[in-house]
Amino acid sequence: MSRYALLLAPSANRVYADQAGRLASAELAAFEPALSTDVSDISLASIGGVEYLTFAGELSPRDISYLSNMSSAYALFERVDEHLLRPVMLTPLARYDSDLITIPKYAGKTNEQFTKLLLNLTLLASASAGRMLDGHLTVLDPLCGRGTTLNQALMYGYDAVGVEIDGKDVEAYKLFLQTWLKRKRLKHTADLVPVRRQGRRAARRLEVTMAASKDDHKAGAVQKVTVLQADTTQLDGLLRGGVADVLVADLPYGIAHGSHDDRGGLSRSPLDLLERAVPHWLPLVRPGGAVGLSWNVKVARRELAEDILLAGGLEIVPQLSLEHRVDQGIERDVLIARKPG
Ligand SMILES: C[S@@+](CC[C@H](N)C(=O)[O-])C[C@H]1O[C@@H](n2cnc3c(N)ncnc32)[C@H](O)[C@@H]1O
Repeated sequence: MSRYALLLAPSANRVYADQAGRLASAELAAFEPALSTDVSDISLASIGGVEYLTFAGELSPRDISYLSNMSSAYALFERVDEHLLRPVMLTPLARYDSDLITIPKYAGKTNEQFTKLLLNLTLLASASAGRMLDGHLTVLDPLCGRGTTLNQALMYGYDAVGVEIDGKDVEAYKLFLQTWLKRKRLKHTADLVPVRRQGRRAARRLEVTMAASKDDHKAGAVQKVTVLQADTTQLDGLLRGGVADVLVADLPYGIAHGSHDDRGGLSRSPLDLLERAVPHWLPLVRPGGAVGLSWNVKVARRELAEDILLAGGLEIVPQLSLEHRVDQGIERDVLIARKPG
């Protein structure tokens, strides 16, 4: 049995402070079912005065490829003996330059490292876990803001679908993506067009088609991003059923940026939104697909969020503790559920 030491990305400590190790342990445990080896003795250890996540197992090259995508991974070492670490080459999915993820900065953005954690946990809980490294999957974020989840999905080589009620966010996302693609000289098309339902304008749809290289473009290996500017609680007929392998959403925090209600006002509880949205969201997820949500437990209790998903026919997928403090008003938790296959 080999022993390993994972150095956490400095950004993990910035985002989660002293909770980074616990979240990384939970993420590693979530990867385990996708690996060819059991992972044991997960713990935090100080080596040379630096904290590492240590564990035992017998990692195959494919296992290393999986773990390379851990949101907290910075460097992996095999522990040769008590005092010697041998570097293990990480091979993360990285279809594009990392600034696709790191450039966007705006109020209300979900931290990109946390977004990757939430996406990973959801993918790993879904029937598509075995295709995470090489599948052309589709990720849906029905509260997509300016596209943090969508960009991470693109980075993984997947297609992405988003829904966002705020037209300014959709326009800002279009502008960012188009500017970025032009600067990187990547072939693409981007159109924002009205969508009509029963003769009336019901939404706007942003359609982006892009390829990571000229060769990919020639070979037809393109990726698609679709963003609907619409109310996520009124999606009838706007998206195809079963479009998504996974659904990932960071719910409005109920404080700084509340959820819009039907009258365009603010609704304090993200659970009001969740309750109205779930009947629209679940038909969009394929059987065997998974749903990953994060929200502020200071304004909405975990059991109530679970009840809404259970009532929708989903199974809750147990995780190690992921609750963490974001700031004074926000204590964030994560809920992962699966749609029966
Ligand atoms: C916590 S933010 C998500 C931010 C996003 N993950 C990002 O990094 O840009 C929640 C988003 O839900 C959107 N939203 C709230 N109510 C909505 C509704 N009824 N339909 C669609 N979007 C809604 C808000 O405008 C906000 O952009």
